[in-house]
Amino acid sequence: MTDKYPTSLFSTNLQFLNQNLHGGELSIAGCSAKKIVKEFGSPIFVLDEADFYLRTRAWKAALDQSFGGGQLYYAAKSFICVEIARWLKELKVGLDVCTKGELLTALAADFPAADIEFHGNNKSEEEILFAIKSSVGTIVIDSFDELARVAKIANQEGLIQKVYLRLTPGVDAHTHEFISTAHEDVKFGFSIASGDAQAAIDKCIQEPSLNLAGIHCHIGSQIFEIDSFKLAAARLVGVLAAFRDKYSKQLPELNIGGGYGIAYTTDEVAISPNELIPAIAQVIKVECEKVKLSIPNISIEPGRAIVGPTTTTIYLVGTTKLVKLDDGSTRRYISVDGGMSDNIRPALYGATYSAFLANRSSNQKTISSRIVGKHCESGDILIPEIELPEDISAGDLLAIPATGAYGRSMASNYNHMPRPSVIAVKDGLAREILRRETEADLLNLDVIQAPRQLS
Ligand code: LLP
Repeated sequence: MTDKYPTSLFSTNLQFLNQNLHGGELSIAGCSAKKIVKEFGSPIFVLDEADFYLRTRAWKAALDQSFGGGQLYYAAKSFICVEIARWLKELKVGLDVCTKGELLTALAADFPAADIEFHGNNKSEEEILFAIKSSVGTIVIDSFDELARVAKIANQEGLIQKVYLRLTPGVDAHTHEFISTAHEDVKFGFSIASGDAQAAIDKCIQEPSLNLAGIHCHIGSQIFEIDSFKLAAARLVGVLAAFRDKYSKQLPELNIGGGYGIAYTTDEVAISPNELIPAIAQVIKVECEKVKLSIPNISIEPGRAIVGPTTTTIYLVGTTKLVKLDDGSTRRYISVDGGMSDNIRPALYGATYSAFLANRSSNQKTISSRIVGKHCESGDILIPEIELPEDISAGDLLAIPATGAYGRSMASNYNHMPRPSVIAVKDGLAREILRRETEADLLNLDVIQAPRQLS
């Protein structure tokens, strides 16, 4: 890869071959974009398998170095399928799930239940029962209602369930409001400032069927400010100290969540595990020393920082169109064969992305372009403004990097579009790990049935 392609946006084993001024023949782990599309169709999520292993190991190693251990829970919501759960099992990391569906996926991979933590602000009784019966390692309790529910169900099952309490440390995460979770006015967790956290702790330890092992916080997602994580960690140590003072024993575990920012454009610099984890370790060490606590067992829950950069979406260009704007200038619209159904993030959060010509190179001048999807909606914009070579036309391929997290996992069937496949590529070999939906899948839920009498 040359300087023309910002390596920071792409997975490790990605190259542009036969480059000219722009674009080139994209090859990921030895598989060319053209061959991928010929074999598997488009749009398609291409996941660099070795890169996934590399990133997971980097976070694990950073924890190990700073804390002499600790637990990494991969956040399944960023992207999960049975094959990924098998990789995570092999990598000996834990898994954070937040629905029965995610849990079922992990169990289908024979993922060890003891290494799973179950999150969510509104787990149903059925989900709680299923999690407890599946011997899930930890349930992260999010509300007083849920505390009572988990206690009741564990009691009925004659079990003692290990739990964490999710706390809101009141930290401003400096990210999009929808993915910011630790200020006061959110649906998640027990507020430390309001006293709810302490009340939940008190209730929890009175429940014989609950084993309160630790506390948890997750301050939001796509966060770049290390100080926000440091502040949250310090506040949680304060809670651990208050617990010790009241109950004369120490809670052994502290989970500081995920949310580590990655680069989608060259304006952003990803948080590195080797920078973040030692910084958090330092704060925890200092804060624990101040209040004479021993350092708890630390766990983290990155999703995006692991899977995000592993994956590149490849789209086929269809229609291109020059549109005259009010100020007399023109804008070139490039329509691709996917859009908001495979990447809702630009429409939902104003998320920014980069795109590259991926089937050939071009030496043409660039013009201001807008990359749009094929959905019947003006807001179906993947990239509002990007310079791309003038000669891009139908049949070209465009690659958008860093789509591994919250791309396929938030994909929809809007406009009855089949959701794309995800392929894993490694050493010149490619295989589907989630197949593309078929037209039959699209019609699978349709029923023509006799009405049932409900009155
Ligand atoms: N732990 C908990 C409790 C979470 O709620 C989340 C994400 C994570 C860990 C992982 O966060 P990550 O390391 O992946 O940032 N759909 C949004 C992101 C929502 C995140 C929800 N929770 C997006 O596309 O940006």
